Amino acid sequence: MSQVKSVLCVGCTVIDFVTICGSYPKEDTDRRCLDGFWQRGGNASNVSTVLRVLGSRVDFFGMLSRSDAFRVLLEDLRRREIGTKNCPQTDRDPPFSSVILAQDAGTRTIIHCNKDYPQTTWDDFSKVDLSPYAWVHFEARNTPHVLKMMQSIRDHSERTGQRILISLDLETRYEQNQELCAPCDYVVFSKELAAQLGWQTPRQTCEQLAANIPGSGPKPAFICPWGSAGAGALDANGNYHELASYKQEKVVDTLGAGDSFMAGFIHATLEGQRSLSNAVDFANRVASHKITGFGYDHIAQLSLS
Ligand code: FRU
Repeated sequence: MSQVKSVLCVGCTVIDFVTICGSYPKEDTDRRCLDGFWQRGGNASNVSTVLRVLGSRVDFFGMLSRSDAFRVLLEDLRRREIGTKNCPQTDRDPPFSSVILAQDAGTRTIIHCNKDYPQTTWDDFSKVDLSPYAWVHFEARNTPHVLKMMQSIRDHSERTGQRILISLDLETRYEQNQELCAPCDYVVFSKELAAQLGWQTPRQTCEQLAANIPGSGPKPAFICPWGSAGAGALDANGNYHELASYKQEKVVDTLGAGDSFMAGFIHATLEGQRSLSNAVDFANRVASHKITGFGYDHIAQLSLS
């Protein structure tokens, strides 16, 4: 069943300069790479790309740049029919990431340069008409502003009787961003962050996250992708599911695999009306297929049926 309403992805868009090497380079050496390319990146921006590739309707909300370097990113958003009509603009140069893909180990190493690029504010978001959206997805950053954005979505849902689902991608700084979890329907939490907090399994991570939600009201579902071990998911009623990953023989490009997981989950839940565990299973499929090719376009080979 296809939904008419769209997804809004809130976060940043950056330029990814990707260098493909046979192995990770040794410090202070001078060598050739195998190949390279650059593409639009950033968490919410990648989630938007993969949602479009899978066939969802999507708008992006983040700070766009008027600089020359950004023009190609704008063109890519336009070509893919990812809406940007609500985005504020700045004259500042966009953030970028230098990414090294090491083909022998299958790793991606990201060095991100943000340059204090301005973030969208609550004031920017308050101008957005929420009625076209069935789902709003956030990156965990800019906490006080994002919290107000989430609360305004909750208020809108209550006022109109049309519930807009909210998801959060929590990859860094748990303590700072913890309060963003409570207003969400779905929180996707990274394995790397769980390790930093000393949480050793996806189950322990989901259960700790749920225990840290104050009050006795409804809790979000927590989803924890765990690399090659698959993913764990704890639903709002406390039922835990674990879904195995799909193994791939050839790992080509792991950049944005987490963002692809997120998009697969949103697409399966919203477009496919899948249950939590089925949606996580599809998200595992999308993430594991993503790493078999460069970029995101090959994900179009997957479908929900
Ligand atoms: C991948 C990614 C890259 C970007 C980096 C930092 O998840 O979104 O595209 O360079 O993370 O935002």
